[in-house]
Amino acid sequence: MKLLEERILKDGMVLGEDILKADNFLNHQIDPVLMQAMGNEFASYFANKGITKILTIETSGIAPAVFAGLELGIPVIFARKHKSLTLIDNLYTTNVHSFTKGVTNKIAVSRNFLDATDHVLIIDDFLANGQAAKGLIEICRQAKASLAGIGIVIEKSFQPGRKDLEELGFDILSLARIRAFEKGVVKFVKEEEK
Ligand code: G4P
Ligand code: NA
Ligand code: NA
Repeated sequence: MKLLEERILKDGMVLGEDILKADNFLNHQIDPVLMQAMGNEFASYFANKGITKILTIETSGIAPAVFAGLELGIPVIFARKHKSLTLIDNLYTTNVHSFTKGVTNKIAVSRNFLDATDHVLIIDDFLANGQAAKGLIEICRQAKASLAGIGIVIEKSFQPGRKDLEELGFDILSLARIRAFEKGVVKFVKEEEK
């Protein structure tokens, strides 16, 4: 998505070997205009697939997921990483390990909002090692819900997540695909390589 690639080049910052700081529009300050355009992009790609729910994970997946849900006219569920006062039982849960952060989070979704009648679109902000997406897939498996596909805002194609999920047979739409960071400069996957 051209608009997103331009924004990454303008406002993204490469940190170290493999991290893109996107605090200006995605992970801290949020640009609702860009977010809506991205939500619409997900919605048009995954339209007419009978999707009943969008499933994401807090925090940064929520904004793009909500705009996609708005356009598709369906509810958005976010898996919780932190204990909730009211969400204490009747849960689907699994562990998500982050190689980037070196921590494992238990994620949870209420059984009230996902079941075997659902056809789910998973959305997240970054795809790196694919552990968050795999955790959400596991939640869908527990719910016996079927999966329509996975929508990602920024994919780091040089990390294993994309390939792993593709090998599992999932339809993945990443709005920006980063091939490499070269001397601190973001390089996208070229059209002919897609
Ligand atoms: P994975 O799910 O693909 O395996 O990713 P990983 O565990 O490596 O990522 C852990 C967290 O770091 C996730 O956010 C993910 O979105 C984020 N992340 C991964 N790579 C990058 C990057 O290059 N730049 C930025 N800005 N974030 C990255 P999280 O812990 O779930 O945080 P949040 O959703 O609350 O923001
Ligand atoms: Na994040
Ligand atoms: Na995330």
